[in-house]
Amino acid sequence: MAFKENFLWGGAVAAHQLEGGWNKGGKGPNVADVMTAGAHGVPREITDGVIEGQYYPNHEAIDFYGRYKEDIALFAEMGFKCFRTSISWARIFPNGDELEPNEEGLQFYDDMFDELLKHGIEPVITLSHFEMPYHLAKEYGGWRSRKVIDFFVRYATTVMERYKDKVKYWMTFNEINNQKNTANPLFSWTCSGVRFKEGENREEVMYQAVHHELVASALVVKAGRAINPDFEIGCMIAFVPIYPFSCNPDDMMLQVESMHDRWFFADVHCRGHYSSYALKEWERKGYDIKMEPEDAQILAEGTVDYIGLSYYMSDAVKSGVNEETGNKIVGSSASVKNPHVKASDWGWQIDPVGLRYSLNLLYERYELQLFIVENGFGAIDVKEEDGTCNDDYRIDYLRAHIQEMEKAIELDGVDLMGYTPWGCIDLVSFTTGEMKKRYGFIFVDRDNEGNGTLTRSKKKSFDWYKQVIATNGEQL
Ligand code: BG6
Repeated sequence: MAFKENFLWGGAVAAHQLEGGWNKGGKGPNVADVMTAGAHGVPREITDGVIEGQYYPNHEAIDFYGRYKEDIALFAEMGFKCFRTSISWARIFPNGDELEPNEEGLQFYDDMFDELLKHGIEPVITLSHFEMPYHLAKEYGGWRSRKVIDFFVRYATTVMERYKDKVKYWMTFNEINNQKNTANPLFSWTCSGVRFKEGENREEVMYQAVHHELVASALVVKAGRAINPDFEIGCMIAFVPIYPFSCNPDDMMLQVESMHDRWFFADVHCRGHYSSYALKEWERKGYDIKMEPEDAQILAEGTVDYIGLSYYMSDAVKSGVNEETGNKIVGSSASVKNPHVKASDWGWQIDPVGLRYSLNLLYERYELQLFIVENGFGAIDVKEEDGTCNDDYRIDYLRAHIQEMEKAIELDGVDLMGYTPWGCIDLVSFTTGEMKKRYGFIFVDRDNEGNGTLTRSKKKSFDWYKQVIATNGEQL
């Protein structure tokens, strides 16, 4: 059997994409609450505060806030061993810079974690999944400001103390590397609460904000270990491996350089210092990234226990190509379509083998446990007249990826902790704000405009995944 006995099968979501209740229980607005709905090729708008008459899909989302018991019962029916979600920072510290937390927000997560544990489901918690309090973004410029380190550490240690006997698995920043793509305002906003100003060097601003986050992450890892030595605290990287388009040495070298965008973040999280290519880049470009004398030691002492990764697709780069793509999630200007793989309706290249490749790259480089905390197929699902939803394409996608995970374990010896497919229940898409880009095993009756009863129903993939878990991956 490829998967270990205690393999963490489950599902993943993020608070802002499913909770709703955006102004309930004392919660303050966060950066996701000012993002309108977009579509494939139509960017989400980031508004200056919440504007009357605008539609903000995350405000209601799928009302997990009001319905979590029903949803968790469905996860339990599928046999989930774990459930990955995030804590909404603005539920705990509504503005982010208060000294005392909001008890009602803390109680919500207490109740929700109790419900999970009642069903034998282990919570896996991301501390920051694209939703810092709006006030911090507006008044401090988000992670541009070093002061935010203290606010984050206060928030993180508050929840780690509170839930120290309920939550063992933590991650600091979700897909921290998305913001490497500075051409798309969505990424700097959601990763760091940063909006670029006219004329400033975006990349330098990004690196400064990231430095603050990496220091904060390291401080939280260290503080977390003191709170409960049994905690496992990881980072979270959007892992889109980059292939050379051909064996042309120029393509190969371009691939090596492009992969620095992926390694930059994981290197600091896992090795505790900036890599040589990063320092050289800053020197070459004349960047002045402000650091305090103690930062080097903080980074060295706060390395992670495991690597959480999302894997949806691969990318390919070709030398001589320099189109300004900007709006792509992968964000390399030399990216080209890979003729050997197909893509989803949203242009995400479907490449299960790329998952085994990624697991190999990461494991060989760091020799740390890996946890696939996102993977999945966003598609337009059709509800048949009899109420069923035959999402065979989703089953095919997931099956093919699980088979590659098996090979990575059995043939390559990768130490894989678990697998939590993204959006185990339909939720609001991050990049587009749509509901029609669905990932779930559970269908939620809600459309792009916010119409629908929010009723939950099982898709065909529900029973399929239940059987995968019941047989520990034997029956796919
Ligand atoms: C990852 C994020 O980028 O991919 C999730 O961590 C996101 O928040 C997921 O939802 C899928 O992206 P999308 O745009 O299809 O929702």
